Amino acid sequence: AYEPTKADKFSFGLWTVGWEGVDVFGTAVRAPLDPVLAVEKLAELGAAAVSFHDDDLVPDDAQRQAVLARFGKALADTGLVVEMATTNLFAHPVFKDGGLTANDRDVRRYALAKILRNVDLAAELGATTYVLWGGREGSESGGSKDVRAAMDRYKESMDLLTTYVREQGYDLRFALEPKPNEPRGDILLPTIGHALAFINDLEHPELVGINPEVGHEQMAGLNYAHGIAQALWHGKLFHIDLNGQHGPRFDQDLRFGAGNLREAFWTVDVLQGAEGQPGYDGYVHFDYKPPRTENLDGVWETARGCMRNYLILREKVAAFRADPEVHEALAAARVGDLSQPTLGAGESLDELRKATYDPEALAARGLGFEKLDQLAMDHLLGVR
Ligand code: GCO
Ligand code: MN
Ligand code: MN
Repeated sequence: AYEPTKADKFSFGLWTVGWEGVDVFGTAVRAPLDPVLAVEKLAELGAAAVSFHDDDLVPDDAQRQAVLARFGKALADTGLVVEMATTNLFAHPVFKDGGLTANDRDVRRYALAKILRNVDLAAELGATTYVLWGGREGSESGGSKDVRAAMDRYKESMDLLTTYVREQGYDLRFALEPKPNEPRGDILLPTIGHALAFINDLEHPELVGINPEVGHEQMAGLNYAHGIAQALWHGKLFHIDLNGQHGPRFDQDLRFGAGNLREAFWTVDVLQGAEGQPGYDGYVHFDYKPPRTENLDGVWETARGCMRNYLILREKVAAFRADPEVHEALAAARVGDLSQPTLGAGESLDELRKATYDPEALAARGLGFEKLDQLAMDHLLGVR
């Protein structure tokens, strides 16, 4: 049981299982991982797709053609697809003050050129989502960044990129990935909400959505399940980065299910959707870092764990939603009532104002949320 298949649409970044473990305090603990080996092993484990940064796949431009040929063969041999691609605009020192919003105009032009080149490759490989994570867009100090000018430049780049994709006829949409901090002290577009608001002011908002990551919202003390539910409501959940995090602290990038397990349960609940509440139908993408304690065997355990935890939670969520006692508790909690318009059809505001209300009696009604939540806990803990 809990064996993933391609129908589950699980996807992994090459940089996840390929993370060598370089962190702020220490050097690499694992050797570089050949992308071809990653593809083969992920296929064997039951994944359906991979994603990559330009530099993950082609670290050395001199080898470009050979690398792409080998990688294409591995995809064909395993049946894995590339569903998403992204640009590394954070590792090289040139991006120390950002890419698309760097103060230095030459750096911004280089960043845009680097994106365009990999957008072409993404389209060639059949990816349908292009992620932009602006980890270096931001500042450590107040006067160094004119935030409004930075928004102008961010918008300028997004408008150029969406126009380019339209002109080329690529079947590719962009997904912005919010993060509050790390590596910059304060990153621009720090949360789901900031990113959604920004998208409204773009020239082709229909081509731009978001790629929210579990840990990034939780670093800001926010509720990820609520965030992706709102993103779905806006029609903007183009992609997801699932992982694990223990509350506000450094970006842990644990495997999915580690960290805040209760929020993982509600996350899967939102993603699965329900009647009248369409869920997420894209690739279930994991973006995590196998801890430095692990050798390569441990790395594959973490990849297996991400998918296994998703499948277990999917089963728990389905059992919770099918449980007759849960249906009763939901009714007692008036959860379904929230779907009823507050003003009835054909009713006027005048009628609403003139109706009789008994605030004391309304206040005396209990909602039974704790009973409902305990049922969820019982399902999650495996005692129901
Ligand atoms: C992080 C980020 C990155 C980005 C990835 C895509 O952990 O801070 O999630 O992993 O998702 O680099 O550009
Ligand atoms: Mn992260
Ligand atoms: Mn991510």
